[in-house]
Amino acid sequence: MSNKIFFITGIDTNVGKTFVSLLLLLAFKQRGLNAGYMKPVETGVKINEDGSKNYLDGGYVKKYGSLSEEPDIITPYTFRSPLSPYAALKQEGGDLCIKEILFKFYYLNKAYDYMLVEGAGGMLVPLKKKHFMIDIAKYIDAGIILVTKAGLGMINQTLLNIEYAKSRGIGISGIIINNVLNENDESVPSNKEILGEFTDVPIIGDIPYLPEKKRSENINMLNDLALKYIDLGKILV
Ligand SMILES: Nc1ncnc2c1ncn2[C@@H]1O[C@H](COP(=O)(O)OP(=O)(O)OP(=O)(O)O)[C@@H](O)[C@H]1O
Ligand SMILES: [Mg+2]
Repeated sequence: MSNKIFFITGIDTNVGKTFVSLLLLLAFKQRGLNAGYMKPVETGVKINEDGSKNYLDGGYVKKYGSLSEEPDIITPYTFRSPLSPYAALKQEGGDLCIKEILFKFYYLNKAYDYMLVEGAGGMLVPLKKKHFMIDIAKYIDAGIILVTKAGLGMINQTLLNIEYAKSRGIGISGIIINNVLNENDESVPSNKEILGEFTDVPIIGDIPYLPEKKRSENINMLNDLALKYIDLGKILV
């Protein structure tokens, strides 16, 4: 597994992968490291009135991460339907060529010393016939950064994801706990420590629920959040 290529996946959709990807990117940049971002496939992308695409994740990270690439390099494949890529492909037709994703990835990987690649949904989201999302991590030899929730059930879901990646021979670089659901059940205070007892994968971030004004569109605030909540030291060797 490369220690410069990271695949950001999560225990579920909407667990905060894009937000975490941005904080990781800003954490790299603030250390003076040259890091890029890719979201190979995005579904639920609407077409604007002028015919351009309303890239969601790619557009957000490009904007606040000051990335210079064209959006169609960051996100080579989009689908309008808010479905898994395979379901969207079946519904809308078209093509999803893994070689094309890899071609764009290697182009970006040449320009950057570190790459962050965000999956869609979780590891076993169907990508195309006989392919899952996590296969991309394997093809690019990435280390996984697993974004997980903070409340009851997170230990089970986190460990299941880790075991699955291990069973596929895919390395895991780190776990980031993100309290995106604003959970406050009794397990929240102890989950991090107990999870740490059951896995050797380093926990490189523990992000509380952040109301919108605290993660608002202000680059200084985002940079501060990256420094405060992401411990890059545990994945940089
Ligand atoms: N710690 C947090 N506190 C509060 N809101 C958060 C937090 N992390 C992320 N969010 C918000 O939760 C929503 C979902 O996050 P995000 O889009 O990053 O999830 P995702 O896993 O990338 O989703 P997808 O599977 O669609 O790519 C966004 O509105 C994001 O701003
Ligand atoms: Mg996302």
